[in-house]
Amino acid sequence: MVHKLFVCTTCASIWKDGKRVGTSGGQLLLDELLKLNQSWSLSSNFLIQSVECMSACNRPCVVAIAAEGKYTYLFGDLPVDAASLATTASAILVCASKYATQSDGSLPWSERPAPLKKGIVAKIPPMQELAVIG
Ligand code: FES
Repeated sequence: MVHKLFVCTTCASIWKDGKRVGTSGGQLLLDELLKLNQSWSLSSNFLIQSVECMSACNRPCVVAIAAEGKYTYLFGDLPVDAASLATTASAILVCASKYATQSDGSLPWSERPAPLKKGIVAKIPPMQELAVIG
């Protein structure tokens, strides 16, 4: 099964005169995740994909985990300052690993790593096959 980890690269941007200045926090998070992904045992099960926005802009940084037939989770408030970036990225991959092992992707609060215990923005139920009537 293919799982997806979406990372907003617009989150935590600094803007000046309508232009982004420097590297956004979301881009730093994506870069760190891609670095860790090189030695992650589930790297072949997950596609890590950058997105420009997931409409949780007031809760930076934001990532989402999704797969067909599983809950979709949207996490925000993920810290990416220099002291937290590696811990946050690592916690995301721990959470994604847990997600991959659950048939419906359930991620109970008590089983999520600290940076993902709070700041959850959405938990969307899996799509179910629709019964054909008639
Ligand atoms: S800018 Fe990241 S969710 Fe909108």
